[in-house]
Amino acid sequence: MIGVLDSGVGGFSVLREIRALLPDQDITYIGDNAWCPYGNKSYRKIRERTFALSDFLIEQGAEIIVIACNSATIVAIEALRALYPLPFIGMEPGVKPAAALTQTGTIGVLATEASLRGDKFHHLVARHARDIRVITQPCPKFVELVEQGVLSGPKVDAAIDEYTAEMLAADADVLILGCTHYPFLRPALEARLPAHIRFVDTGDAIARRVAQHILTPAENPHIQILTTGVPDEVSSLAQKLTPEIQAHCAPLFLP
Ligand code: DGL
Repeated sequence: MIGVLDSGVGGFSVLREIRALLPDQDITYIGDNAWCPYGNKSYRKIRERTFALSDFLIEQGAEIIVIACNSATIVAIEALRALYPLPFIGMEPGVKPAAALTQTGTIGVLATEASLRGDKFHHLVARHARDIRVITQPCPKFVELVEQGVLSGPKVDAAIDEYTAEMLAADADVLILGCTHYPFLRPALEARLPAHIRFVDTGDAIARRVAQHILTPAENPHIQILTTGVPDEVSSLAQKLTPEIQAHCAPLFLP
């Protein structure tokens, strides 16, 4: 089984890529909705939650765990890899592909506050974007809107204008969607921003990294969605965000 976790429903943007590439696998997805958002939490809390969810997935028989959350990856992935024997695949803002794509030499990074203050993020920028101007912007309203299933309309447009004004004024031509919730707002971003702006989202690259591992195929592959929040709400969000995935959502009680 492939274990996938996120603070909420953002990881569905990664789950759909994994599902498309590996249809013969069982997948258990955990949305930690009771603790969402992670982006404004302390590193200690994010690490504690990520470990608790990973422990659960390992008990359930996960062969590999995908941390489908940039914030949890930046904060916890090294500790997870040091402690557990199974492979962990994490997300990180796509600074390298964005630096390769930009024509103006300026890129914008949309991510959570937790991701943007992490050493791991600063190392990424130092390694791949040394000669590039990098403008960062936390976007907490994007997470709230996606968790409410609001993917377009005046509230979304107002948040887009607020979060992208500075980077557009600085002539950024590539914007990194550095949080797994944000790809669900990509159609709204594309409609609202000038046509030459390119977007970088690493969900498909993560799925390809999972596919490099040898995993036991399931006889009757299915997807299980668990949430520490309200299952009915997450079920209807799942239908809206990823209608291609048929999955039942059940409650997960973790201390
Ligand atoms: N989806 C998450 C990420 O990729 C976290 C969003 C949040 O909970 O603040 O960073």
